[in-house]
Amino acid sequence: MPAIEEIEALAKRRGIFWLSSELYGGFAGFYDYGPIGTALKRKLENQWRSYFLGLDPNFFEIDARQIMSEKVFRASGHLDSFVDPIAKCKKCGAAHRADHIMEEFLHESFEGMTPAQLNKIIKEKGIRCPKCKGELGEISIFNMMFRVPVGPTGEMAGYLRPETAQGAYVSFAQSFEVCRKKLPLGLAIVGRAFRNEISPRQLTSRMREFDQAELQIFFDPSTVNEHEDWDSVKKKKILLLPCKKKLVEMTCEEANKDLKIPKFYAYYMSKVQDFFLGVLKIPKEKFRFRELSEEERAFYNKIHWDIEADISSLGGFKEVGGVHYRTDHDLVGHEKLSKQKQEIFYDSRRFIPHVLELSFGVDRLVLAVLDINYNKKEDRIFISLPPSLSPFTAAIFPLVNKDGLPEKAMEVYCKLRTIFDCFYDDTGSIGKRYYRQDEVGTAFCITVDHQTLEDGTVTVRDRDSTKQERIKMDVLADFICGKLK
Ligand code: GAP
Repeated sequence: MPAIEEIEALAKRRGIFWLSSELYGGFAGFYDYGPIGTALKRKLENQWRSYFLGLDPNFFEIDARQIMSEKVFRASGHLDSFVDPIAKCKKCGAAHRADHIMEEFLHESFEGMTPAQLNKIIKEKGIRCPKCKGELGEISIFNMMFRVPVGPTGEMAGYLRPETAQGAYVSFAQSFEVCRKKLPLGLAIVGRAFRNEISPRQLTSRMREFDQAELQIFFDPSTVNEHEDWDSVKKKKILLLPCKKKLVEMTCEEANKDLKIPKFYAYYMSKVQDFFLGVLKIPKEKFRFRELSEEERAFYNKIHWDIEADISSLGGFKEVGGVHYRTDHDLVGHEKLSKQKQEIFYDSRRFIPHVLELSFGVDRLVLAVLDINYNKKEDRIFISLPPSLSPFTAAIFPLVNKDGLPEKAMEVYCKLRTIFDCFYDDTGSIGKRYYRQDEVGTAFCITVDHQTLEDGTVTVRDRDSTKQERIKMDVLADFICGKLK
């Protein structure tokens, strides 16, 4: 179980991520990914794409802009409702997110409470500034979006998108038209989102600029309690923490009957769980869906279950995504403000589709896989990433930098890198080279030594067991492929 400081030190030491603008003391709420972190994030995003876009032939990726017109967020409700409660200290002037400091103080959730309710509890419980213990002022409301004046005189009002989702809604009509007018239609966006968080914290888990991978599934609301592939999931068990209840593992069928989770929704919960357990290889006990109460739910959701992973360096189960039944909230909002019909003609009827959103925070997923796969044995740290997520599948080393070994090792590297992501390293002792690769989750280390020149074999070291095998160079690629299965 790594401490947050251990993850931070590893991330910095190995080029996974570090504070942005660090040269100038850092910029709170912004982190940059280094070469290893970028490779890991890309792999995760690509796994997400191939899994979720593969769920239905009518699911596609689109690429929408990050700055959008103010009108988009007026219509979606973000201008009025995308707010957090802020408590300012009367003594030191520090601004805090009120529900978060109360949560830290009282160990319960206050999300969704009104400023009046929060003010009352702060006074009753005597909660003070966590920085200087000064008295806290009245709670006010703070909109988290970044306003961007656009044009030479800033005459056009724009905002950095606080979620990727709106890009799919504002162009839904065009996408529906070009995608052969079929439902369900899935539109995915993988990209940046921006929120002016009051208290960015816990490394990359709460930033002001971050990445999301979101899939908006537009469907016919009259079919919310069906899915054409329901039979394939109905006996599958999903891990649920319903509101004010204990964790239960129940079949999708039971969730539909006992918890009134519509079949269309339960079907995708089961697919989300398969992604976490089967693709990201998150152990079952570190995964769950948590139902949000009416007060906690996002303003656009009718049904809202968070996807949570147990990230011990962040103190336990944390939200990494959500399954959101947004109904026609967004399309109706855009229809009203734009005066352009969002209604479609489908299955001999006219209606506005509903949306089921599968939303994921990419940075939190990266943090989760690093944390969950972090191992420490004596002085050796190794990250047991599934090979499909390892920044490098293999690292290739010459044992020494003489006797023709670097040339041979480079030959092996050039051959393997056409098949796998590979790293070549000829610096430092062989032990240190192994340790460096262990820390970034490289699955195999391949060493070219003097015996290689005699019999054409190399040593292949397994990251997790550290066991070494001698393998003939000409079957090396097949050997690695076999291990990856
Ligand atoms: N489109 C729906 C939506 O944006 P959300 O729950 O606000 O829903 C989705 O955000 C996910 O984005 C979260 O579950 C989380 O993983 C990630 N996320 C949200 N705010 C974040 C932040 N400040 N820093 C990093 N990730 C964040």
